[in-house]
Amino acid sequence: MLKKRLEKAINDQVNFEIYSSYLYLSMSSWFTSKNLVGFATWMRVQAQEELIHAMKFFNYVNERGGRAILTQIKGPDTEWKSPLEAFEDAYKHELVVSSKICNIADIALEEKEHMTHNMIQWFINEQVEEEASAKGVVDKLKLIKDNPGGLFMLDTELGQRVFNSALLAVAGLGGPGAGGAP
Ligand code: FEO
Repeated sequence: MLKKRLEKAINDQVNFEIYSSYLYLSMSSWFTSKNLVGFATWMRVQAQEELIHAMKFFNYVNERGGRAILTQIKGPDTEWKSPLEAFEDAYKHELVVSSKICNIADIALEEKEHMTHNMIQWFINEQVEEEASAKGVVDKLKLIKDNPGGLFMLDTELGQRVFNSALLAVAGLGGPGAGGAP
């Protein structure tokens, strides 16, 4: 049975992951409006992955005898001055996600809730990748500065990102090895 303190923190994270998806979808739309379709694709895939994260937490709360509660999701920003500003925001956002994930791990240890501590390790590992991928694009954009050729090359590179359908199983949404709560 999930302790109430953890149920509350994980529910907060369900909603924060959905907000993350909103944010990246908003960035995707902004990039599309700037004709940077590769950046837009990267952000759209990121938005899909955030929903996977939300569903993994959602399923976990329900599987452990708690109840996932959905709340109002605030609207994300809709304007950025440049691709660099958008990716800097994405990177800062991921740092906030990491601190919230680590907070859940801290509570799990304090409450001696080893199942949750085990579950949250998947997210801790994921955050290493999440931070690195956003920071990697920030660093490239800083190198490119105002060089249009460099920007279009990066746009092509980022446009190759595809959603990993194996993640559907992670979220209990079907796909290979599907599981999770009904
Ligand atoms: Fe769900 Fe990007 O962290």
